[in-house]
Amino acid sequence: MIIRPRRLRKNAIVREMIAETRLSKDMFIYPYFVIKGKNIVQPITAMPGVSRFTVDALLVDVEKGLKSGINKILLFGVGEEKSEDAHSAHDSHTVVAEAVRELKAKFGDTIYVITDICLCAYTESGHCGLIKDDYVDNDSSLDVLARMALTHTQAGADMVAPSDMMDGRVAAIRALLDMNGYENTPIMSYSTKFASAYYGPFREAADSAPGKGDRKSYQMDSRNLREAVREAVIDEQEGADMVMVKPALAYLDVIRAVREAVSVPLACYNVSAEYTMVKTAAAAGLIDEQRIVMENMYAFARAGADVIITYHARDIVEKGWL
Ligand code: PBG
Ligand code: ZN
Repeated sequence: MIIRPRRLRKNAIVREMIAETRLSKDMFIYPYFVIKGKNIVQPITAMPGVSRFTVDALLVDVEKGLKSGINKILLFGVGEEKSEDAHSAHDSHTVVAEAVRELKAKFGDTIYVITDICLCAYTESGHCGLIKDDYVDNDSSLDVLARMALTHTQAGADMVAPSDMMDGRVAAIRALLDMNGYENTPIMSYSTKFASAYYGPFREAADSAPGKGDRKSYQMDSRNLREAVREAVIDEQEGADMVMVKPALAYLDVIRAVREAVSVPLACYNVSAEYTMVKTAAAAGLIDEQRIVMENMYAFARAGADVIITYHARDIVEKGWL
């Protein structure tokens, strides 16, 4: 007797019925780069289809996205003053704080605004923490990161997302938010973030490349799985409401392992080079963009991601790929 799994693949109806993994537009978060100025939409060469927006232009684009159901966005600030102590990171007049205020004023609770918390766009060195004796100093960075999270929360951010990889930052942010009466603002920690060449196009987009050296003394070594799980567990213990694996495509095993080790929701970040590789190959006519993108999204969900942060989100919902 031949055992026949093909019986349940016979036609689209039965395949749909038995699909083990499903996606919904509610799982997607769309990232934005925000710049100073008026009425500028500045295409990012390294990321075809993605632009930097001034706050006024951002409001217009977010409204478009809202119509098709993109109601969760992640904001990165670009072009702020860079200094040794990264003081502009927690200035209440940064483009990010401004964008949050205007988004919440215009769209209220129909939009969920998450802000990236990291110092690399605000330090002279381009590193994600402050420099002390030629080393990215952990503990002095915590206070600045926490103040940045507080400033964004005071501006109206619905959630803050620390991406710096300093030890103890989730606890530090939680403590400062609670002390100021923001005990209901959740933290999505980039808990498990690898030192990766897949961030290349983002660093052009955000002007956040380190001037010298690399990020290997704080971001994780891509060879390590046990340590990856440990980072997520530590952040859950420190009070992270959600954790994250980043990048996503080359780390599906990590997504699965973290999913099994923590009980908080898990996001994955489908990062800039993962996006750019698909977009450039598709533009060259070498691959079928829609099918490749959706295969990747299903892979993230099948591996265990509850939430997907991706630059493809707008295409997926607006072009009806779901
Ligand atoms: C900042 C930050 C980076 C990304 C998100 N937040 C870059 C980095 O750590 O160098 C990467 C996102 C992407 O590549 O899409 N810490
Ligand atoms: Zn950073």
